[in-house]
Amino acid sequence: MRKKIIEFRNVSFRYGEEAPWVLKNCSFDIYEDEWVAIIGHNGSGKSTIAKLVNGLLFPQEGEILIDGQLVNEESIWNIRKEVGMVFQNPDNQFVGATVQDDVAFGMENRGVPREDMKKRITETLTAVRMQDYLLTEPHRLSGGQKQRVAIASVLAISPKVLILDEATAMLDPSGRKEIMDTVASIQDDHGVSLITITHDLQEVVQADRVIVMNRGEIWKEATPRGIFTQKDELRKIGLDVPFVAILADELKQAGVAIEMEPLDHEELLEGLWTLHSRT
Ligand SMILES: Nc1ncnc2c1ncn2[C@@H]1O[C@H](COP(=O)(O)OP(=O)(O)OP(=O)(O)O)[C@@H](O)[C@H]1O
Ligand SMILES: [Mg+2]
Repeated sequence: MRKKIIEFRNVSFRYGEEAPWVLKNCSFDIYEDEWVAIIGHNGSGKSTIAKLVNGLLFPQEGEILIDGQLVNEESIWNIRKEVGMVFQNPDNQFVGATVQDDVAFGMENRGVPREDMKKRITETLTAVRMQDYLLTEPHRLSGGQKQRVAIASVLAISPKVLILDEATAMLDPSGRKEIMDTVASIQDDHGVSLITITHDLQEVVQADRVIVMNRGEIWKEATPRGIFTQKDELRKIGLDVPFVAILADELKQAGVAIEMEPLDHEELLEGLWTLHSRT
């Protein structure tokens, strides 16, 4: 049986006693080795979920378990060894004077023995393909390189969960691709549960499963295909659909009888090719 790494049980949250609820009775599970994308309109509660997972915030109602451990004031230091987070702005995530100091910092904070640190610095920087930049000053790196170092810094603490909250939002398309390729390979090699919070539809297509938030509630949980076939419903809650899916719809309306719901260029080409070889 697959192991649950994150469990949200009827979680409700608000930022203060008089404030409106920003999460309303949310329940979901995330399993070991799974990649889950969380999407939803601005203010739908995505970042709040991320902050609840690593105990930066606590729910007023319901419970959250990480690897079977209840998240509360007593457990947060253990929880933060299990959960690594990377945020949007690469410039706000550096504390070290060099790339290797930066990766070392999180480990020092969590009491990783010195002997292990050097080995882990090399391993994690290699995993993000930044092993040649050990002594580089962070400000000399590109945005994508900075985010890869930020990922290495959280990987160094061997988390069970890696959360990327809009971690590619400030990058150009090639920087985004670098990050997504990096996390995909890390997920294969390190067996972490990966949560990506994003507005980028191409990132969503790569996930195993998608949780769609709407006004603080879980609107739907499904595979990327299960989500993006509901184009009209998605638009109603302020979300886009991938360009290829729109194109495929228009082709169908124009009489091109593609028999599938393509999510990326390759699938669309395959659909068109199948059609062509039949006629
Ligand atoms: N520190 C805070 N104090 C008060 N309200 C907050 C705070 N942080 C977030 N909120 C409110 O909580 C709601 C959910 O915010 P959250 O940041 O979780 O949304 P989000 O889905 O991550 O949005 P975005 O896509 O813009 O990042 C919003 O209405 C927001 O204004
Ligand atoms: Mg957010």
